[in-house]
Parts: sequence; structure tokens; C-alpha cells
Amino acid sequence: MKVIIVKNYEEASQEAAKIFINQVKENPQSILGLATGSTPIRMYELLREDHEKNHTSYKDVKSYNLDEYFGLDASHPQSYHYFMYKNLFNGIDIKDENVHVPCGQGNIQENCDEYNKMLAENPVDIQLLGIGSNGHIGFNEPGTDFDSRTHYVDLKESTIQDNARLFFDGDVNAVPKQAISMGIQNIMEAKKVVLIACGKNKEDAVKGMIEGPVTPELPASVLQNHKDVTVIIDEAAAGLLE
Ligand code: F6R
Repeated sequence: MKVIIVKNYEEASQEAAKIFINQVKENPQSILGLATGSTPIRMYELLREDHEKNHTSYKDVKSYNLDEYFGLDASHPQSYHYFMYKNLFNGIDIKDENVHVPCGQGNIQENCDEYNKMLAENPVDIQLLGIGSNGHIGFNEPGTDFDSRTHYVDLKESTIQDNARLFFDGDVNAVPKQAISMGIQNIMEAKKVVLIACGKNKEDAVKGMIEGPVTPELPASVLQNHKDVTVIIDEAAAGLLE
């Protein structure tokens, strides 16, 4: 695990953006695994700026997002599908047919099977991750099997509370209680992983991920077993590291 400690969120976003831009320049047909949440927003903005200024092209790139809420359709402003278009896809030249976000509606088991099949046929070159304050990656909550693949998830109360800030007026009741998420095994199959963690509320999870035992109780700790992981953390999130 390569750990990069930077001053703040801006520097973390710059560092991560550099890695993704280089990836796409080196391999214009890259398959990107992408995340939502508040952490990647600035990095996505930097990718859009770079696309506009330097013309880095995503026309042959494919993307696979980690997760989606259950029951929200793609046009819902709080859906992760909508988030990705707003924060990234509308500002780059990726083709709609190359964008993949798990579908949180209809027959969930069929959707999970189809997503796993697509991932098996299109192995992710580089996977972006954030981390939950409880150590989740994707929506793989504490206790998730390390051999899990795309699955239907009951969100933990702590995740629902954490994510309420992104919903209308911070209304906790508006946050879906279930989601569909790539499993831990899917994430571990990515050739490279880049995880960004910023802010004091992530310091416990960051410590567990880097220094703790590898345990399903802290899902991100599994990344200690991945051969190519870069963790980019700001000083606040690094506060408890030895
Ligand atoms: C998002 C995702 C989640 C978030 C995590 C951190 O697609 O899979 O694991 O990365 O909940 O969220 P933020 O960045 O909002 O702190």
C-alpha cells in the first residue's frame, strides 16, 4: 500500500486527478472504476478542466461505477447516475454507451448478475474509492464477505446518517435504506486502486485500513492484500496514524 499524505482536500484531489489523467493518456481505452460521494467532486472537476484545456480524451474510455441507491431512477437528482453526469460525464467526451452505473430498479438479482458479467468481460484498470466513516468501500458495509460480488445491500444506520447531508435539506428519511454495490471481490480484481480520504471524520477508518488487522469488520482493510493500491489522505484523515 502506497500512502501519500497531503495537506488538504485540494491537494488530495490534484494528486488523484494526476493519476487518472496519466492513466487515460497512457491507455486511451482504459476501463475506469468510479465512485460518488463528496470526496471525488473536486477531482472530477479537475478532470473536466483538463479535458477542456488539454483535450485529454475519454472517447474510448469505459466506466463502471461502484454503486447506486435502490429505488431511485437514473433521472433522480440524488441518484448516483445523475451525480456522475452532473459532476463528470457532462464535461468530458465519454460516450453514453460506455458509461455503466449499477441499476437500482427492477429485478435486482438480474441487475447484479449482469453487472458481474460485464465486469468479468471488462476488467477495471484503475478503481477510484472513497471510504465510509465506518470503513466501507463501495457500499460494502462492515461484515460484508471478502468474496462478495455485486450485491443488494442494506445500508447501516451510520451510512444513512452520513449521506443525509447530500439529500434535500439533509433529510435522513429521504435517504434510501438499500443500495446495489460492486462487491469486495470485484474491487480487489481491479488492476490498480486509488483511495482518497479527507477530513477528521475519516481518521478512525483510515487507521483501521492501513494499520489495523485485515477484517470484514473494517472492509477497507482488505486493500492491504491488493498489490497496487495508492491511498491519498489529507493531514486531518491521517491524524491517528503511527
Ligand atoms: C460512493 C461510495 C462510498 C463513498 C463513501 C465516502 O460511490 O461507494 O463508499 O466513497 O461513502 O463518501 P464521501 O466521499 O461522501 O465521504
